[in-house]
Amino acid sequence: MIKVAPSILSADFGHLDRELQSVESADYIHFDVMDGIFVPNISFGMPILKCVRKLTKLPLDVHLMIEKPIRYAAEFADLGADIVTVHAESDEPKEILKAMSDIKSAGKRCGISIKPATPVPVLETYIEMADLVLVMTVEPGFGGQKFIAEMADKIRCVKRLIDERNPECELEVDGGINGNTAGICIDSGANVLVAGSSVFGEELRERAILELRRSGV
Ligand code: DX5
Ligand code: ZN
Repeated sequence: MIKVAPSILSADFGHLDRELQSVESADYIHFDVMDGIFVPNISFGMPILKCVRKLTKLPLDVHLMIEKPIRYAAEFADLGADIVTVHAESDEPKEILKAMSDIKSAGKRCGISIKPATPVPVLETYIEMADLVLVMTVEPGFGGQKFIAEMADKIRCVKRLIDERNPECELEVDGGINGNTAGICIDSGANVLVAGSSVFGEELRERAILELRRSGV
């Protein structure tokens, strides 16, 4: 089944309660944490995660775009994240593996993400431990960017790796996902679609979610 994960980076933070209610038909809530170092932008962190946790029953899919995530991964897991994803580029492999293991020890699912320029073989170190692989389809840092078309081949390649080494692992895509690009990602093997502007930029959120979910059909 195709899952949709609205990214609250594009939500109206003055009305978070209402915004979260409007996307209740989704599968996950995507929560982008940015530190201004790993990416050139700062978003939100623990206090907001605590609020969001109280406002929705949906699983929280936390995307850590921060340097050395080992420092905070377990804390995000303990604060109510259901999935915590770290970036392969954000530390040495040994430390990334330790962060993933901390997330698992907290009883949560862990993800590993790669930026558009990072080659797929980098994932080989992490694939057996991962519950989710997140392929960035834009440069991480900002919502509302254009999908990088070349990422379709990369998604296919990651899907092959998942099928060979960890078939239970989910394949998520993030960045520029809308009614035109969701189908390309699903056809290439993605099963979780992160969508910021294409959900929160629409008046009819439920319809936007449904359309994304049906894109591959
Ligand atoms: C970008 C974030 C995304 C962002 C996606 O670095 O990881 O989750 O919110 O926004 P859209 O869907 O608007 O590209
Ligand atoms: Zn994200």
